[in-house]
Amino acid sequence: MREGIAQAIKRADYAAPAYWIRSVELTFDLDPARTIVASRMRVERNASGNGGALRLHGEDIEPLRVLANGQSVSFRVEGRELVIDNPPEGDFTLEIRNTCAPEKNTHLSGLYTSGGGFFTQCEAEGFRRITYFLDRPDVMAVYTVTLRANKARYPVLLSNGNLVEQGELDNGRHYAKWHDPFPKPSYLFALVAADLVAREQHVRTRSGKDHLLQVWVRRGDLDKTEHAMNSLIASVVWDEARFRLPLDLERFMIVAVGDFNMGAMENKGLNIFNTKYVLANAATATDSDFADIESVVGHEYFHNWTGNRITCRDWFQLSLKEGLTVFRDQEFSMDMAGSASARAVKRILDVRTLRERQFPEDAGTMAHPVRPDEYVAIDNFYTATVYEKGAEVVRMMQTLVGREGFAKGMALYFERHDGRAVTCDDFAQSIADANPGSELARTLPHFKRWYGRAGTPHLTARGRYDAPTRTYTLALEQHTPATPGQAEKLPFVIPVAMGLLTRDGRPMALRLEDEPADKAAEERVLVLDEARAFYTFVDVDSEPVPSLLRHFSAPVRLHDGLSDDELLVLLAHDPDPFNRWEAGQRTALHRLLAAVRDGQPLQLDAAFVEAMRGVLRHETLDPAFKDLTLTPPTETYVAEQLDHVDPQRIHAAREAMVLQLARDLRADWEWAWETHQVGGAYSPDAVQAGRRALANPALQMLCLDATARGDVLWQGKAYQRFKDASNMTDRQGALWALLASHSEMADPALQRFHDQFRDDALVIDKWFILQAAAPEKDGRVFARAKALLKHPDFTLANPNRARSLIRTLCGENPAAFHRTDAAGYVFWAERVIELDAINPQLASRVARALDRWATLAEPYRSAAREAIARVAARAELSDDVREVVTRALE
Ligand code: ARG
Ligand code: ZN
Repeated sequence: MREGIAQAIKRADYAAPAYWIRSVELTFDLDPARTIVASRMRVERNASGNGGALRLHGEDIEPLRVLANGQSVSFRVEGRELVIDNPPEGDFTLEIRNTCAPEKNTHLSGLYTSGGGFFTQCEAEGFRRITYFLDRPDVMAVYTVTLRANKARYPVLLSNGNLVEQGELDNGRHYAKWHDPFPKPSYLFALVAADLVAREQHVRTRSGKDHLLQVWVRRGDLDKTEHAMNSLIASVVWDEARFRLPLDLERFMIVAVGDFNMGAMENKGLNIFNTKYVLANAATATDSDFADIESVVGHEYFHNWTGNRITCRDWFQLSLKEGLTVFRDQEFSMDMAGSASARAVKRILDVRTLRERQFPEDAGTMAHPVRPDEYVAIDNFYTATVYEKGAEVVRMMQTLVGREGFAKGMALYFERHDGRAVTCDDFAQSIADANPGSELARTLPHFKRWYGRAGTPHLTARGRYDAPTRTYTLALEQHTPATPGQAEKLPFVIPVAMGLLTRDGRPMALRLEDEPADKAAEERVLVLDEARAFYTFVDVDSEPVPSLLRHFSAPVRLHDGLSDDELLVLLAHDPDPFNRWEAGQRTALHRLLAAVRDGQPLQLDAAFVEAMRGVLRHETLDPAFKDLTLTPPTETYVAEQLDHVDPQRIHAAREAMVLQLARDLRADWEWAWETHQVGGAYSPDAVQAGRRALANPALQMLCLDATARGDVLWQGKAYQRFKDASNMTDRQGALWALLASHSEMADPALQRFHDQFRDDALVIDKWFILQAAAPEKDGRVFARAKALLKHPDFTLANPNRARSLIRTLCGENPAAFHRTDAAGYVFWAERVIELDAINPQLASRVARALDRWATLAEPYRSAAREAIARVAARAELSDDVREVVTRALE
């Protein structure tokens, strides 16, 4: 189907391997220029296969010798495979010796060096860059690993499992031997050899077993590990309490590394993390950094069961572990947040991410199902669809079987599949089988379309009230637009959590016709499993306002046709905080879209401004919730509602909206700023963080308004706050207020910030991000970003640094990126090409910034297409980037 992409791998072609590798002993002589790897494998023929040649994966490595049962055996290297045409009969021992060059490994996949140490990243296909192997997740082996290295330079030698032996060698070298008793796929292998120190904690779990927890970092970073350790302990406790899943290891290690392609990696017993998701203290990390660390530490820890104990049969099943584990980390963060409103804030943030990243993906050139059908580069499929939409699919299952039922389903899943490599079908089947009679069990075959079909369903709702019969009939209808390769869409199973409110905002009892009177609840879940269905509610005394898709019960686009007045009822009264927030967003969105469509300057009406004032001044609402409600939808989200996107118009409309909210609510922002200050010692907890989440935007609004009026008072206050802040959240908040209001004090503040934090890489990343994310004005932000490429602190070799400037500009600042002179696209093409020569995974992420080029209005559309075509025309491109640009042009 996809010509132009020759080597697509297809899900339908899955076949079990012809051979198994049951155990492997690895010995590493670690040297940055030339590491020698000796591997000794126990190989078995797959009884159900027909033997034949043994083909091992290998990439960018050199074979030295191959022995089978101790005898040399003939082999050949064919592309990215080492082929042994005539392996011995029966089971045999295979010994391979090969070399690799960690210091030349700029892909950061396989074994590489960072900050003078050795680290690995094997998921998805990095192990084959270390040694020859059956590098596929259904081949699971027991690993014994010996590391040998110079002791002074690499005093710490770590691998998976338990340390069984260590000692001295000649020439200043030493060794350590590790054994992991759990059979695992090669993508979960890890090693670390570096000069590191650990924060340690012993914990005793419910079962009475003792465990050692360690967080390894560079010397000097120990004072930034407390939060990661606390998050790890909380994760251990939570998984045991919520799912009865205990820590199964004597030792659990987290290691932080400064050069890392992704967030973190769940290698068995030896999680390796991007420093960004480990290191934090009040002076260097913001509240959201603290929250991210908690959720990523949780995520990787939860993988120990969902991913490691039960893994994926093949990479098409990636969401089996990722969607489920994202769901688990979301639930963990919600439980940690505490109050109902803090939970709702977390849910809103997660839905925002889904709609801003996954919805565009599902509507763009890279659209794919949660369980993809084909890929060229598997690393391109670590996507918002597989992760975040996958988590929504799991969440819908929980909605359909209930929280208890879901826990029962998880228990059955482990009972059936522990220790094995399985599929998304196996998971769904377990949850359904544990809950016979549930809506999931009833609809399972159709429900599973969520795994197989791409695209975001549109859900249309129309209500009709009939006063004489006191009935209210709700018609629900679904439709899903075509996606690449999937023209026709069958109906999905859509759980619609809903309630009805009176016009003055009181919840109504919900009873469907034919139901007994005792069935009346104020919220219920309608399960739409056909193209359309009608639901008639009885005993409805007055015309209701429907509140549909509460807590975003399904990943769909809802069109309920509610009027502004009805939305204002929900904004003021909906008992579901998610829909309350959503109602506010929709009233703002209507106004933004109207302004963008008719190109008129945006002018807010009093009703809207008063509603926003009501939220801001509300007596009981959570301050973080207020901030979310008063923040208009992002430019990206607005763009997603349009077929012809003019990013500059959208920017102008949104800027005008923000400015008017700053002006009309000036006294209210002052009140918010003054009453939400936090005294005492810094803590990232939801209460303190919530206050800062409102105080900092208030300062920004006050600066914006004052600066627009030529008044420097608030800029002065912001600069003062910037200088005196006792924590990074407030310092960055004040700096952002200066940047976002285009204050003349922004430059001196940036200079000072750089001077103060020049030695802290993660803070310097923020320094780049803030400048690349600043609201565009007269092309200045773009010009600055271009100039920053030449800054001595900038480098493409470090993924965090590269992302902080390039991804921020191209992916998160539409008005700076989409320029009528196409300079943004030229910048994009140059960076994609430069990065691709160093790190294809990273290049390919940047390449995706133009996924949605086809919906751009002219002149953007043609210029974007031309830029993509220019990249695609290069002869030398990685599979990763080639796949993205080829699909973009199809
Ligand atoms: N399994 C890791 C996580 O989500 C991510 C690994 C990503 N690897 C990759 N090559 N894209 O926790
Ligand atoms: Zn994961």
